[in-house]
Amino acid sequence: MSTRVKEAGPEGLASALIASGALQSDWLPTYRAVPRAMFVPDRVWPGIPEGTQQGALIDRRVDPRAWLAAVYSDRPLTTQWDNGEHQGDEVGTTPTSSNSLPTMVFAMLGDLDVEDGHRVLEIGTGTGWNAALLATRVGATNVVSVEYDPDVAAEARENLSEFGIKPFLHVGDGRQGVAAHAPYDRIIATCSVGEVPPAWIAQAVTGGVIVAPWGPLYGGEAVVRLIVGEDGSARGRFTRSSAFMRLRQQRAEFPAHETYMGGQAWPADGVRSATTIPPTDVGEWVAQFAIGLQVHDAFWTIERYDGGAYTLWTYGLDGKSWASVDWEPGEAEFLVYQHGPRRLWDETEAAYRWWNGRSRPGFERFGLTVGPRSTVAWLDDESCPVPGAEWLR
Ligand SMILES: C[S@@+](CC[C@H](N)C(=O)[O-])C[C@H]1O[C@@H](n2cnc3c(N)ncnc32)[C@H](O)[C@@H]1O
Repeated sequence: MSTRVKEAGPEGLASALIASGALQSDWLPTYRAVPRAMFVPDRVWPGIPEGTQQGALIDRRVDPRAWLAAVYSDRPLTTQWDNGEHQGDEVGTTPTSSNSLPTMVFAMLGDLDVEDGHRVLEIGTGTGWNAALLATRVGATNVVSVEYDPDVAAEARENLSEFGIKPFLHVGDGRQGVAAHAPYDRIIATCSVGEVPPAWIAQAVTGGVIVAPWGPLYGGEAVVRLIVGEDGSARGRFTRSSAFMRLRQQRAEFPAHETYMGGQAWPADGVRSATTIPPTDVGEWVAQFAIGLQVHDAFWTIERYDGGAYTLWTYGLDGKSWASVDWEPGEAEFLVYQHGPRRLWDETEAAYRWWNGRSRPGFERFGLTVGPRSTVAWLDDESCPVPGAEWLR
C-alpha cells in the first residue's frame, strides 16, 4: 500500500461538485480550465462547514498543504475583513470579500443559463475567479465585472492577467451597473442585496436573466432568478438558500442596545405578555426569510446565559421599538416584553404563524416581482403575495 498522502486537487472538488449537482456537464470544461488556486491569495480564512463563521487563518507560506486543501475544498475563503480596515492574522468583525463557496458559484452559473455569445455583467469581482469562469465560457469581450473596493479590484486584475484573460473590469458601485457596455443578456451578483437596483433591469435585454442573492434585513437569504419583461419589470422564483456578503451600500447600521433602553434597566416600561412559540423556532434560515418578508426594518440578537437559557431580542430600526422573549429549558410558555411604537414580537409571531400555517414552504416556493414602483414577494405565484411583503421604491 502506498504511504503517500493524497494531495488535495481540482478533480476531487470536481467530483464533489458533480455529485451534489452544482457543477453541470456544460460547465465542467470551464471548471477544469480555470484553476481556483490561481485566484486565491496566500492568506485566507476558510468558512467552517455547515456554518456562517470563518475558521483560523491559513497562510500558504506557512502551510502550503493546508492552503491547497482549503482551495480544493467546498468552502468559501474570506480574503478581506472590514473593508480592508482590519489587518493581521485574527478574524475581523465582518468578512467583506472572498472567493465564494464553489457549490454556490456553479449552482448560480447554472441558474444563469448562459449561451455562447451572451453578454454578461457580474457585480462583485472579488478575486476574479467567477469573472474568469464566465470569460472563459462566453469570451472575455462579452464579460464586464464591477468591484467597488479598489484594492480588491487591483488584485483581481492581477489574477486575471496572470491567468491570461481580460474581461472588462470596472471599479465602482455595482448598483449602477455599467451602462457604457449595456445591454446584457445575463447579470449575476456575487454579493447579496435587499433591493434589486433599477439599473440592472434597465441594462438587461428583454428576456434577460438576473441572478442575485436577495434577503430581507431580518435574516434569511436566497438566490433569486429574475426574467426581465417588456414592461421594465423583472420577476422570478428563488432557486436556493444562500448566505452572501451584503453589497456594501446596502449594509444596515444597527443602533446599539442602549439606544433602546433609554437609560432604564430591563424590562423598563415594556408591556408584559407570554408566548408558546419557542424563539428557536423563528431562527431557522428559511423561517427568518419568511418572517423578514413581513417584518420590515427589524433585526435580532441572542443573549445567552449559563445553563442554556437565553433571550431573543428584536429591535426596530426606529431606535425605539424592542421586544425580548426569554427561553428557559423545559418551559412551554415564554415571557415576552415589548416596548415602543411597534409590537415586534407580535409582528414576528404573526409572520411565523403565517409561514408555519402554510406547511413551512421552502425558499423555492417564494418569488419576487421587481417593478418600476415597488418590489413584491409572493408564494407560488404572483396572485399570492406574502402579507406585507411590498417595498415601495
Ligand atoms: C463574495 S465576494 C465576490 C466573489 C467573486 N465573485 C469571486 O469570484 O471571487 C463579494 C464582492 O462584492 C464586492 N462588492 C460589495 N459591494 C459592491 C458594490 N456596490 N459594487 C461592486 N462590488 C461590490 C465586495 O467588495 C466583494 O469583493
